[in-house]
Amino acid sequence: ATERTFSIIKPDATRRNLTGAVNAVFEKNGLRVVAQKRLRMTQEMAETFYGVHRERPFFKDLVSFMTSGPVVVQVLEGENAVAKNRDLMGATNPANAAEGTIRKMFAESIEANSVHGSDSAENAAIEIAYFFAGYEIAP
Ligand code: CMP
Repeated sequence: ATERTFSIIKPDATRRNLTGAVNAVFEKNGLRVVAQKRLRMTQEMAETFYGVHRERPFFKDLVSFMTSGPVVVQVLEGENAVAKNRDLMGATNPANAAEGTIRKMFAESIEANSVHGSDSAENAAIEIAYFFAGYEIAP
């Protein structure tokens, strides 16, 4: 079924001017960017967004990285968008990511891994609502 997922193009990718290159992968593979904006996350936003990871050893570094430069937050729409986007991103650690995936092509490290994508439709809805008002999404 047609569904939506939430995506972030992370600071390592915006710094290297890869927004268009990442979007080209989405668009070539049947995902449509139906909402998108560039912003700099505050510490509070990053801590809230990544709240499930609060107890993890990498949490502080993750928040610091995600606030280190601009990100592009996006809503992607398409057939099985959540799973499709996870396939296109590849494994969290680029060292384990398959050939042709965004993280294999672009990621610098497990932390600076270029993109975030929702892990379920339920979380996609929560993450989309955190960053976008309804009128900002134009399918
Ligand atoms: P993301 O999909 O955005 O969700 C959590 C992020 O934490 C993950 O991508 C990585 O960028 C980052 N991260 C940093 N270190 C680790 C780690 N050891 N294991 C998992 N995620 C990590």
